[in-house]
Amino acid sequence: MVDTQSQYQKIRHEVDTAIQEVIDSSAFINGKIVQAFAINLANYVNVKHVIPCANGTDALQVAMMALDLQPGDEVITPSFTYIATTEVVALLKLRPVFVEVDADTFCLDPAAIRRAITPKTKAIVPVHLYGHSAQMEQIMDIAREFNLYVIEDNAQAIGAEYIFSNGVIKKTGTIGTVGTTSFYPSKNLGAFGDGGAIFTNDDELAVKLKMIANHGQKKRYYHDMVGCNSRLDSIQAAILNEKLKHLDAYIEARRNAADFYDNAFSGCEQIQTPTRAAYCNHVFHQYTITLKNVSRDGLHQFLSEQGIPSMIYYPVPSHRQKMFEYLNTDELDMPVTDWLTGRVLSLPMHTELDEEQLSYISSKVLQFVNR
Ligand SMILES: Cc1ncc(COP(=O)(O)O)c(C=O)c1O
Repeated sequence: MVDTQSQYQKIRHEVDTAIQEVIDSSAFINGKIVQAFAINLANYVNVKHVIPCANGTDALQVAMMALDLQPGDEVITPSFTYIATTEVVALLKLRPVFVEVDADTFCLDPAAIRRAITPKTKAIVPVHLYGHSAQMEQIMDIAREFNLYVIEDNAQAIGAEYIFSNGVIKKTGTIGTVGTTSFYPSKNLGAFGDGGAIFTNDDELAVKLKMIANHGQKKRYYHDMVGCNSRLDSIQAAILNEKLKHLDAYIEARRNAADFYDNAFSGCEQIQTPTRAAYCNHVFHQYTITLKNVSRDGLHQFLSEQGIPSMIYYPVPSHRQKMFEYLNTDELDMPVTDWLTGRVLSLPMHTELDEEQLSYISSKVLQFVNR
């Protein structure tokens, strides 16, 4: 699905040098490079504050802790997402309210958000799934109307852009109250281990986020609030700082691969290729097709027999997970989410795909679909 090894080989010298510098400095935790990376990333996404942390799940947790949400407060999230988004809500004793996604973009449906709002609703968590932005303009309008926080789960969409109706363009993760991201190795900006970050333009919130990620302290050994230990280590920061210089080129390579697949599958009625909404510059963390009148599981199996990996993201949506049975989720009717869950398939998508590979993959997909 990904080829991080070939990607590394192209920048091996820079990355190895950066790692060696950390080792030579012995500043493995909170070294200068962590702050340097945070500043470079803040400049890249154009946000006032970037708070690095240990992973994308912690980023969500720290963000929700900083907003002072209280047990029982309702948080609107998609069910069609990676489990981290919804698990963190439950971990903090908040109540996840699962809402449908748009069948074309796989992201939260603003009309469904509106229907789910109650007096207990405190926040919305749009997930920019697969690298495509949720409809942030509508979501921000709803948030303003009902006085809700917006926590953008940008784990899969770093570098993606949202284009507002007035022409203003903003990077995803910088539009809501707070944004979170993951540097899991296969992500568009991937570390060589775990990593994450939190984005905000709110100065006061930034102070709090930083404190919570560091045991609730501003001054060492003086703990003003309950926090946790969530740090991006210096070696990961050094690697990410090098890779950040190439992020735009990586995104372009992903878009080129997506263009190839789009062309190969155009005119094939059984394959719905990923939508690229006019309001969004997609970064293709995944290239996810939706199969119609053809067996998704059959294609998944056939590709595996041809030596082609493919993945089902995600085979079980949150509202069908055992972990959420206590919310009586079996009573929930989520036809779009269930429909997508049975039909989506993600094809290999990364920066190192060449035409020969793309051509082999797409021809095998078409061979199965057309037989
Ligand atoms: C949508 C989404 N949210 C949150 C996460 C959690 O990130 P991490 O694995 O770094 O904890 C991920 C990544 O795995 C993700 O894809």
